[in-house]
Amino acid sequence: MDLNLYKDIFEPFEKLVEIEILGKTYEVPENNSLLRCFQFLSLNSISQGDFCWNRDCMNCQVWIENDGREKAVIACRAKVEAGMRIIRLHEEIEFAPDVESGPGSTEKGMKHSPGS
Ligand code: FES
Repeated sequence: MDLNLYKDIFEPFEKLVEIEILGKTYEVPENNSLLRCFQFLSLNSISQGDFCWNRDCMNCQVWIENDGREKAVIACRAKVEAGMRIIRLHEEIEFAPDVESGPGSTEKGMKHSPGS
């Protein structure tokens, strides 16, 4: 994976951090919004999705588990934190379709087995 290819659209990052999305573990760039992290994993679907990127549309809403409770967050504004558990995604977030070919889907970047 050549992370330099993605430096233009992402906030500066030194390493990837692990988060869980719908029960699967992924590595995504630290210091970035959750929506950028989804884009890192699923470049085409997020880049072409109906997202304002500035808190107007709410199409990026996701729900995280926080101390055993569900909490809604706006993915274009919420910064990723290592260990975050995302348990629900807005229907506009077509996350799964091209995650297998995204930059986070290398052997190191994708912890789940393809097709699992
Ligand atoms: S992308 Fe529109 S509110 Fe986040």
